[in-house]
Amino acid sequence: DKNYNDKMSILKLISQMLSERIPYYNWVGFYLVDEAESNSLVLGPFVGEPTEHKKIKFGQGICGQAASTKTTFVVDDVSKEENYLSCSPKTQAEIVVPIFDKNGNIVGEIDIDSHEKAPFDQDDRSFLEAIAKLLSERFW
Ligand code: SME
Repeated sequence: DKNYNDKMSILKLISQMLSERIPYYNWVGFYLVDEAESNSLVLGPFVGEPTEHKKIKFGQGICGQAASTKTTFVVDDVSKEENYLSCSPKTQAEIVVPIFDKNGNIVGEIDIDSHEKAPFDQDDRSFLEAIAKLLSERFW
């Protein structure tokens, strides 16, 4: 439907803008909660290297942990994280920001990988959480 297509185009545009404008945002994409199986995430629009992690169960990896805990998850050094799903050997750090619907249920997340170590600060976090909130208000 139209709302679905609009949502997917906007998520792709946001991925493109973020990856073009912020040099240390090297993979930018969205995972969305699976409509059919609500305890898993499905890869949505993204910009960057293709990933084999097209479906992630809640609890698995950094994305799945952010979904389970419903909070932003920043990992400064992915080599030190036990529960991590590698998408590219170049990735050194990752931030995952959940997106909620009006009832506070998780509906998806913004996922960003960086080739730099510990690049994400409080400004990145606030900025990405604001984007997540705007998307939530518009689409969920
Ligand atoms: N690294 C993520 C998997 C997704 S890829 O980074 C795109 C994780 O550990 O959940």
